[in-house]
Amino acid sequence: MCGIVCYIGKKPEKILIEKLKRLEYRGYDSAGIAVKSDKGFDIFKAKGEIKNLESKVKEIDNSYLGIGHTRWATHGKPDEANAHPHISTDKKWVIVHNGIIENYSSLRDKLIGFGYEFYSETDTEIIAKLLQYYDNGNALETIRQTISVLKGSFALGIMKQDVDGIFFAKSKSPLFISKNEENVMVASDIICFKNFGDTFYQLSDGVFGFASSKKIEFYDKFGSVNIKEEKLDLNEMDDENKYEHFMLKEIYETKPAIKNISEFYSKQRLLEIFENLNVKNIRKIKLVGCGTAYHAALMGADMIEKATDIDCEVVVASEFRYSEPRIGEDTIVILISQSGETADTLAAFELAKQKGAITIGIINIEYSALAKKVDYLLPIKAGVEVAVASTKAYSAQLLVLYLLSQALGNKVKNSEIDLSTVKTLINDFDYGTTKELQDLAEYLRYNDKLFMIGRGKDYFTALEASLKIKETSYINSDTYYAGELKHGFLALIEEDTFVIVFATDKKLIDKTISNAEEARARGAKIILFTPFDIDKGITDKFFKVFKVKKTDDRLQCIENITMWQLIAYYISVNKGINPDKPRNLAKSVTVE
Ligand code: M6R
Repeated sequence: MCGIVCYIGKKPEKILIEKLKRLEYRGYDSAGIAVKSDKGFDIFKAKGEIKNLESKVKEIDNSYLGIGHTRWATHGKPDEANAHPHISTDKKWVIVHNGIIENYSSLRDKLIGFGYEFYSETDTEIIAKLLQYYDNGNALETIRQTISVLKGSFALGIMKQDVDGIFFAKSKSPLFISKNEENVMVASDIICFKNFGDTFYQLSDGVFGFASSKKIEFYDKFGSVNIKEEKLDLNEMDDENKYEHFMLKEIYETKPAIKNISEFYSKQRLLEIFENLNVKNIRKIKLVGCGTAYHAALMGADMIEKATDIDCEVVVASEFRYSEPRIGEDTIVILISQSGETADTLAAFELAKQKGAITIGIINIEYSALAKKVDYLLPIKAGVEVAVASTKAYSAQLLVLYLLSQALGNKVKNSEIDLSTVKTLINDFDYGTTKELQDLAEYLRYNDKLFMIGRGKDYFTALEASLKIKETSYINSDTYYAGELKHGFLALIEEDTFVIVFATDKKLIDKTISNAEEARARGAKIILFTPFDIDKGITDKFFKVFKVKKTDDRLQCIENITMWQLIAYYISVNKGINPDKPRNLAKSVTVE
């Protein structure tokens, strides 16, 4: 969600466009750059894709620094006036901003009172105006004063007319810096540093500073601060793609991710990670996440409850703070997030910490804010995920949650850690037959609504399958507990309505099939998704029985979802939608 990149070095206009393309995955609807040369600032902005911006940008003689931005609209529609960079009225300050200024309205009113005029609807423009308002000739002091009145989240890249360098500031939105000889880059994601630097600095909240070709200085409100230079791990950054779309590439990276996880988490390692965890007083476990991560949490709660006999509750991260959760030192809060930058999940973490709970993070991006803060980090080792629709990361989250359930079970009940299931999963793992998946996708693409039903964990899989279809195909796919049909949902069934029935648990299959029959009797076309052989008498009545490979019950959920990720992908492509960038969505949701 919004991305910034700033560059000190020759031809910044070229480098900024190239790096903004790396930030595209975060989601955006307009983009812009500002470039400084010996003639002053040149600003270019465009609505829509980076290529629109690229076609507008002209080569600038003697350009030597610049700032760039991809904007995901929050305040004001995605147009050129609202696109960043924004500039002060006196044209001395130019800025790009990622985040949301919560008190922008009162600051704007104040500035209007002082005679300032605004040309955009954004919260960001007030920062450019505030820099002018506080300008006392000392740029760092002006920035310190400006950020001290801002409430909310921001990562800022700032240029000043009479200074040859980039100022930056950070609070609650990610910001990193890397240098390569005399060149410097400031960016929202270290992915921009690929083929640039070998090391990077990660800014903490409240840090601001200045970078030029000669030095990088960091400050907080008390004075100068040191930030540790970290090594860039290029293996984590494989964002090259030979497939038609990242979504397809990433689904096919599920098996390698499972292998990575099983190599990383040996029995010994799991014991070591939790060596100091005192579980004697633990009375409850809360699992928190958003979207796909929330669905992983539902599955994880089931695994952990069964392994530990401790009550688990799952809460959507955006609700956690406002639910006044009764948590304290007797609680473990498990935070699940691919990006580790999701604002609601970070806020849930802050509350959990404030209340004294033990925090465990199940996170993909190991340099993310959340990963750095949790008491216990369990990386999911899935590698970079670029497509907005989360696929391999979900499966990796499920597997790591399973390992966590085993580790906690071992601590609480002294039970054996069972890793044989993982080996079986690797041996069994099957992506299905492409032709069969494509044919099913072709049937489903013409529907404007779909229903999915299941019991127990199958219901959770249906929720995630449904989210994937909604996100990438814009079909209104709705999910119900199979046992709930008669309590209202049946009223929605019409002749030829597709109902997809998830029945992968032997204990529940007969009951689920009875529910499918109820829907069929009212005209529904049933697609039964199961690993089991079904009597011909039943299959003949259904539109299709769709087989999935059977593996250990506890990890069947990973087999199950992969096929639906592929089906969602094919529906999307068949409908002519780019599955990597669904409309209105961002990969990393850094605002509430
Ligand atoms: O980075 P996170 O895992 O915290 O992101 C949470 C959700 O925004 C994310 O899972 C979202 O629902 C995906 N687009 C789903 O495919």
